Amino acid sequence: MKFPAEPFRIKVVEPIKTTTKEERERLIKEAGYNLFLIPAESIFIDLLTDSGTSAMSDNQWAGLMMGDESYAGSKNYYHFKETVQHIFGFKHVIPTHQGRVAENLLFSTILKEGDVVPNNIHFDTTRANVEHNKAKALDCVIDEGLDPESEYPFKGNLDIKKLENAIESYGKERIPLIMITITNNSGGGQPVSMENIRSVSALAKKHGIPLFFDACRFAENCYFIKQREKGYENKSILEIARELFSYGDGCTMSAKKDGLVNIGGFLSLNDSKLSEEITNMLILIEGFSTYGGLAGRDLEAISRGLREVLQEDYLEFRINQTRYLGEMLMEQGIPIVKPVGGHAVYIDAKRFLPHIPQSQFPGQALIVALYTEAGVRAVEIGSLMFAHNDQESGKTVYPELELVRLAIPRRVYTSMHMQYVAESITELYRNRNHLKGLTIEYAPDFLRHFTARLKPLEN
Ligand SMILES: Cc1ncc(COP(=O)(O)O)c(C=O)c1O
Repeated sequence: MKFPAEPFRIKVVEPIKTTTKEERERLIKEAGYNLFLIPAESIFIDLLTDSGTSAMSDNQWAGLMMGDESYAGSKNYYHFKETVQHIFGFKHVIPTHQGRVAENLLFSTILKEGDVVPNNIHFDTTRANVEHNKAKALDCVIDEGLDPESEYPFKGNLDIKKLENAIESYGKERIPLIMITITNNSGGGQPVSMENIRSVSALAKKHGIPLFFDACRFAENCYFIKQREKGYENKSILEIARELFSYGDGCTMSAKKDGLVNIGGFLSLNDSKLSEEITNMLILIEGFSTYGGLAGRDLEAISRGLREVLQEDYLEFRINQTRYLGEMLMEQGIPIVKPVGGHAVYIDAKRFLPHIPQSQFPGQALIVALYTEAGVRAVEIGSLMFAHNDQESGKTVYPELELVRLAIPRRVYTSMHMQYVAESITELYRNRNHLKGLTIEYAPDFLRHFTARLKPLEN
């Protein structure tokens, strides 16, 4: 089969509301042409994010009923700890209510002003948590990882030369840890190879620098290794994951992705002294060490989700559903980032709408049109999100890439939904010359894309 069918059948359904084009035109106008401000109820297919939007299995829902809500030592915590240790192999397991809290706890404990944290590409919250501690978040991804046209199979890899240069120029004393994000979300959901992880690990060990993974999409990364890297074709996903994590000293994890749950996360690590310090901070800001801001039932759902996500038929469907959407778009000549990543398809809005300059937000124009015409919500990752004023020249600096991300929630939508999305985008592509840019009416100073209000330009 070129594209495998859904390896699950539907037992419960959540009806989705259809709206008319007139209703959507009114809603988008009221929302200031900002998709974050549209009520989710008025969206037909929601591809805003794959985070916290997964459908849980019957086994996970059954697990919720097994919640032990004891303040300390809940039985679900022990199941959770055992599961995380079984897959990730680190000694200590610290539950948190989502990924960024794990990042906050780790960085606020080990970073000091002037430190540097290399990564392939830091995800927004990772970067923000590093910078909040007055340290520098340094991206060291290979050049292919920044080229939307490159078909390199492991575009998430770290550039070993860039990493060596960073260690040499900043000095190992200023680098308290190296991170690897698997898969590399900010670079298009692209995987990192085992060979690259081994090389980064060897370099880190040589300099006595701990290596941590941002493990949100670890199972998707392991599936890509199985598919694309020699020597792994006959290994199970669990075997690949165990080997991968054996090269590191710890990880942060948002279980809202490959934990297949709607909320949850953790930090796991080998260093006992560091774990003790972080646990004391956890108790201060999240909760006792056996629940970390989560209910017992949430811990149970994560434990079950982490085992399910390793199933190969699930991963085969998951990765290929994303590819299915990507290939339908490519067949119509629609420019997307290649190869298709694990959790999302990224449209190159600069090439989709070459007549709209970045100052008029082509990515945003595209997602507004996609919602208005078809009720599909995507997210702009371009000039609305990243353009900023250069302090020295006073000029606006635009990001290199102007992308629209179609992130696919896990086990939520069928292949027919994907066809609907592809057909809607194809229709827009045919009529792309009629699309117009936007201008900002209101924007806050930080993270403006969440609350900015815009209006369409007349010509
Ligand atoms: C790579 C990566 N790291 C960290 C996070 C933060 O996780 P959370 O949203 O659970 O705080 C995300 C969330 O999207 C992510 O994609």
